[in-house]
Amino acid sequence: MTRTVRFHEVGGPEVMRLEDVEPGEPGPGEVRIRVDAIGVNRAEALFRSGRYIEPVKRFPAGLGSEAAGVIEAVGPGVTGFEEGQAVSVVPNFSYNDYGMYAERAIAPASSLVPRPDGVDAVSGAAVWMPYLTAYGAMVEVGGMRAGDVAVVNAASSSVGLAAIHTANRLGATPIAVTRTDAKRQRLIEEGAAEVIVSDEEDVAGRILALTGGRGAEYVFDAVAGPGVTELARAVAADGTLFLWGAQSGQPTPYPGFDLGMPALNLRTYTVHEITRDPRRMCRAAAFVASGLRTGAFRAVVDRLFPLEEIVQAHRHMESNTQFGKIVVTT
Ligand SMILES: NC(=O)c1ccc[n+]([C@@H]2O[C@H](COP(=O)([O-])OP(=O)(O)OC[C@H]3O[C@@H](n4cnc5c(N)ncnc54)[C@H](OP(=O)(O)O)[C@@H]3O)[C@@H](O)[C@H]2O)c1
Repeated sequence: MTRTVRFHEVGGPEVMRLEDVEPGEPGPGEVRIRVDAIGVNRAEALFRSGRYIEPVKRFPAGLGSEAAGVIEAVGPGVTGFEEGQAVSVVPNFSYNDYGMYAERAIAPASSLVPRPDGVDAVSGAAVWMPYLTAYGAMVEVGGMRAGDVAVVNAASSSVGLAAIHTANRLGATPIAVTRTDAKRQRLIEEGAAEVIVSDEEDVAGRILALTGGRGAEYVFDAVAGPGVTELARAVAADGTLFLWGAQSGQPTPYPGFDLGMPALNLRTYTVHEITRDPRRMCRAAAFVASGLRTGAFRAVVDRLFPLEEIVQAHRHMESNTQFGKIVVTT
């Protein structure tokens, strides 16, 4: 038996319970992992509360798609991985099928990446999803080049910080947007060229001023909702506004007509476009691993919680006071 986080109804953080569950043996294409650390992801709070892009199909339900640990058992047909190997798990599966919030868990082998030497379990759980998400939108889909301007909203989120690091690595200029002044200095220290405080400043006006009136080639927005119209005003001609999250929880307008039908690309995006495509995933993994080797990429860990405090970890996530990744250790 292994301690596993499950929930029997949708709701707030308190619906999660730590239960003894038999993890079972890995089936074809699967491995069983001893989980050492788990990256907590906003999508999990949405899934748990019934507001995710995919509904809960059955109860009790599990959670978790980012983890680091060691392979305990390898199922039939798995090649390239072996017992005792240190790995990270990246999100390429449904929470309805697998859950990493546990001391031991079954994972599809297709979700594994080897953990590079020198990357400990906490970092191994924290780095992959944010950098894969940023790389996919910026490089694979967006084709970002040196000299481009990239505006990153919800900049202090783990994905936002990875986007700032990735833009810098590509020679682009990251402009961070954050709600309050509280995280400004730390965003500068993480590489933001400029910080715009959305509660106090005219966001589009600042972006246009910083780009000489041209606008930004890319805007990456994890908030969505009514603020999209403001962000769209600051996109350069033929630039792209990526919607990669929906923190606002409010309906999102299509701003093109209100803005006079500019040459605006508006695109939703998830990291599954990368992690479920083996060729893109291979390139993405190489990009992230090389960034970790050179030190251009690193885990920005906000706070650690033990597995038995998973409810507090989710409450902390929903407080929106974090800076970077919340990690749970087993
Ligand atoms: N598309 C994908 O594949 C993908 C993958 C992973 C994550 N995501 C999305 O990326 C976003 C960040 O996820 P995460 O897990 O890295 O971090 P997170 O912990 O969910 O990010 C929290 C931060 O978002 C900002 N925020 C929260 N609520 C907001 C609101 N109502 N209005 C404006 N800003 C708000 C705050 O940043 P400030 O204090 O700096 O304003 C807060 O610190 C989430 O929306 C998540 O769903 C998408």
